Amino acid sequence: MLDKSIRAADYEKFCRFLEHQCGILLGENKQYLVKSRLSPLLVTFNATSLSDLINRAMSVRERELRLAVVDAMTTNETLWFRDSYPFNVLGDTILPEFAQRTGSLKVWSAAASSGQEAYSIAMTALERQNQLRRPINVRVLGTDISNQMIAQCKKAEYEPLALARGLSLERKQRFFEPAEKPGAMRVTSKVRQMVDFRHLNLLDSYALLGKFDVIFCRNVLIYFSPQNKQKILNQLAQSLNPNGYLFLGASESISGFDSPFKMQRCNPGIVYRLA
Ligand SMILES: C[S@@+](CC[C@H](N)C(=O)[O-])C[C@H]1O[C@@H](n2cnc3c(N)ncnc32)[C@H](O)[C@@H]1O
Repeated sequence: MLDKSIRAADYEKFCRFLEHQCGILLGENKQYLVKSRLSPLLVTFNATSLSDLINRAMSVRERELRLAVVDAMTTNETLWFRDSYPFNVLGDTILPEFAQRTGSLKVWSAAASSGQEAYSIAMTALERQNQLRRPINVRVLGTDISNQMIAQCKKAEYEPLALARGLSLERKQRFFEPAEKPGAMRVTSKVRQMVDFRHLNLLDSYALLGKFDVIFCRNVLIYFSPQNKQKILNQLAQSLNPNGYLFLGASESISGFDSPFKMQRCNPGIVYRLA
């Protein structure tokens, strides 16, 4: 019988370790979350107890286990065209502006989860392309700390449950094709070829990614401390081209932080631009 209890001292150490690794703040009394998310790893990593698993993950030698533990502690909730307004602003304002100005648009989905956000951006561009006065070349990059999520993004196959969340029948018919697995659908190559995915920890440097015209960094900053949030906002600002746009999650804001962004209301919703 595997021991799934966590000693109080181990839990505290683990909270500090997790925040240091990926920014996620657990807070007090979240032992139940750690138990439910890490228990599936006990057998895979041949650990005798959760305390054993946690302590091994914190040791420098066990890189694979460390990555799996951080991965398991992420919350990957997402859906297609989440909150609608960012995709409406993208289609109504940003695409026409950049088609006119530069003829190209680079978009970053900075906490891509299983890919719905990045693919929704590409789908919006394809839907709007014919309404633009000039053609536009749109490239999307999706990044996430979870290697499992990045693998799912690249596979681009979705189960019926995921397909039912935020996707109209019209979009499902236009942008998906049947996958090998019965009931599952795969994003078409026309959409997939506009999007790249790679692993990135938002606490690390983004300098190698280059600059973007639009950044979606949604529903991830809520997990971080004010210090890490400030650090990430600074880096996001440096990753945007002049006049670039930043979308945060509907419940996230930059108020109280020192940043070069100015808020623009889009009724509904808010978008930030470099001042
Ligand atoms: C709740 S999902 C949000 C997905 C999508 N942006 C949306 O709004 O629907 C949060 C994602 O942030 C990722 N994440 C958490 N900490 C991260 C970090 N330090 N660096 C990069 N991604 C991180 C998680 O793996 C997860 O996939």
